[in-house]
Order: sequence, then structure tokens, then C-alpha cells
Amino acid sequence: MTTPADPATALAVDADVHSASTLDKSFYLDPALYAATAERVFARSWQWIGDLGDVAAPGSLSPRQMLPGLLDEPLLLARDEVGRLRCLSNVCTHRGNLLVHAPCRAAQIRCGYHSRRFDLDGRMSFMPGFEGARDFPSPRDDLPQVALAEFGPLAFASLAPAAPFADFLGDLPTRLAWLKLDELVHDPSRDRDLEFDAHWALYVENYLEGLHIPFVHPGLAQTIEQASYRVETFRRAALQVATARDVEAAFELPPTSPEHGQRIAAYYYLGLPEPDVQRLPVGPVAQRRRPSRHIAYAGAVRAYVGDASRLGQGAAGALDEVEMEDEAVVQTVQRGIRSRLYSRGRAPRHERAVHHFHRLVGEFMGAPATA
Ligand code: FES
Ligand SMILES: [Fe+2]
Repeated sequence: MTTPADPATALAVDADVHSASTLDKSFYLDPALYAATAERVFARSWQWIGDLGDVAAPGSLSPRQMLPGLLDEPLLLARDEVGRLRCLSNVCTHRGNLLVHAPCRAAQIRCGYHSRRFDLDGRMSFMPGFEGARDFPSPRDDLPQVALAEFGPLAFASLAPAAPFADFLGDLPTRLAWLKLDELVHDPSRDRDLEFDAHWALYVENYLEGLHIPFVHPGLAQTIEQASYRVETFRRAALQVATARDVEAAFELPPTSPEHGQRIAAYYYLGLPEPDVQRLPVGPVAQRRRPSRHIAYAGAVRAYVGDASRLGQGAAGALDEVEMEDEAVVQTVQRGIRSRLYSRGRAPRHERAVHHFHRLVGEFMGAPATA
């Protein structure tokens, strides 16, 4: 039998992967710890808030919801008349009305409740009925601005960034500099809404190791070499590189790539804990997943395709099948860790990225540092 661990010890993980244990099971089961991840992890890391297609023109506005079901933060992408893009709060600074409900072109942002107006840079410019109000207007009447990062056609935002966006990408921008991010095209036919009964972290952990591939993904295992599968970790990111068995299933890599001349089937990137961008020979498919308010997972996959001629080949051959196999196993784990006879396991060597993830979760959640 086990007793519930206190949060500090549940999230403390030894720095040495060879002696470290995983996070305590209470992290995956305790609703209070789950709720704490919203503010401590997700509000402080970078979240995908869609792409920039509908805010390309000067004078355009597009409302976004950051992490629906978890953070539910109403945001507004605003491109001003000279083309500068900002991410603002979409909540009126008067009495909290939501400002913009659909993408539109506008010279100002006007609140529909009492007609407070803001310039496209967020500055309050007009408010009826405030004659005689003291200290008005002041900076707190302007719309708060949120940290924004662009990555190809994708937009990311952070409410209180623990580190710059670049830290969450590792070496992705230089490592995959040969990819033409601006040519990525959203393919709605490949979008998926996901819902299953498992903690988001179990899903991330499963994504971070290839040890399970021969056992869980027999189809995928036919296309990639297990022996040469490798894992690299960065301060706040992890990369897994899979080699193709067959040259047909591999990228054509330019001489500038560190993997030039190798048969690379897939690059699996994950910013820890966010964002994740999965790169496959379809070159690339970018995917985002998000956790919901409850421990059960509700996520979204949005696919951006670079080379449609490679769809259906190699490691990208059966994305839906691989997804279902992964979902099935993490749900089984979620049921398993409820056992009174299980508390935490080990994750050495092949699970180096899992261990790194556990350490970063502990850091975000304020667990005591261990040597
Ligand atoms: S809530 Fe926006 S003007 Fe009153
Ligand atoms: Fe998997």
C-alpha cells in the first residue's frame, strides 16, 4: 500500500538519470496538483494560439483563446496600420467585457458595452462618461500586452514567460534551418480533436521516448531503425531523431544539416513542457496538443504540411494509427497508476528526455532542487 506523497517530495527527481525515479503517481492523480499546473506550468510557458493567416493585413484583429478548457485566457492579435503585430488582452479594462468576437478589419478596438475605445497598440483612446474621474486615464486603462512569438506561420504567446520563446525551441531553428517554415500550409483534413482519459503529462512522457515503438507501434517499427534511435536534450526542449530503414522514407537533407547523408525519417521536437512541433518526412507536420481543465485529456492536433507529396509515406504513413496506439497505452497507464501497489518507477538511459521533462516539471512547480 502507498500513502499520498506531499507535493514537494512527489515532484523532486534526482538529477542523475541512472538513479532517478519518475514523478510520484500523485502528480497524475491529485486534482489540486493538476489545477496548479495551469498557473505554474502553462501560464509561464509558451502556448500555441493559432496561425497568422487572418491577421496578415495592416489594421486587422483576430481573437484567440489561450488553452481552451485550461487557461481560457481571452487574447487578441492586433496588427496596426504600419504592420506591427501585438498580442493584447481581449478584455475591456472598464468592466471586463470581451472586446472582439470574430476576425475583422478595424481602425480601432471598440467595446460594445459602454463604448470604450482603444488604438490597435492597446492604448485607451476614448471613454464616455468619465468626466471628473481622478487619475484617468492611466496606463492601467490600456489593454495589457502579452508576450508573442512567431514561428513560421504559427503564433505562440506566454502570459508570464519563465524564459524566452527561443529557449523552448532548443536548436530547432538552426538544426532545421533548411525547412521553409513560411511555406507550411494548414491542412484541415488532417486536423483532429482528441479526448481520452489520461493526464497530459503521461501523454508527453510517452511522446518523449522511443523505447515503446517496437511494442506499441508495429507498423511504425517497420519503417524506422530502433538501434540508431537517439535522444538529445536542451535546457527546455528535447529532440528525438529516428533513422529510416529505407531511403525512400527519409528526408533529403542539405549539406548544412548535421544529419546530411543519413537516412532521417523523423525529428520529434518538444519544448518542455510546451510547445511541441512534430516533424516528419511530410516535411513537416506541426502538431499542437493541449490539456483540458480535467485530468482527462482533451486536445487538438492541427497539421501544417510542407511537402504534400510525402503524405502517407515512411514515419508519416499512419499518423492516425500511431496516435490511437499511443492514446490506448497512456490510458492504460492512467488506470495502472491508480493502483495502491504503485507509486513511482524508474526511467534511465532511453528515457533521458522523460527524466529531463520530470526535472523541468519539478522546476516549474517549485519542487526542491536535488543534486
Ligand atoms: S466594459 Fe467596456 S466600456 Fe464598459
Ligand atoms: Fe508512441
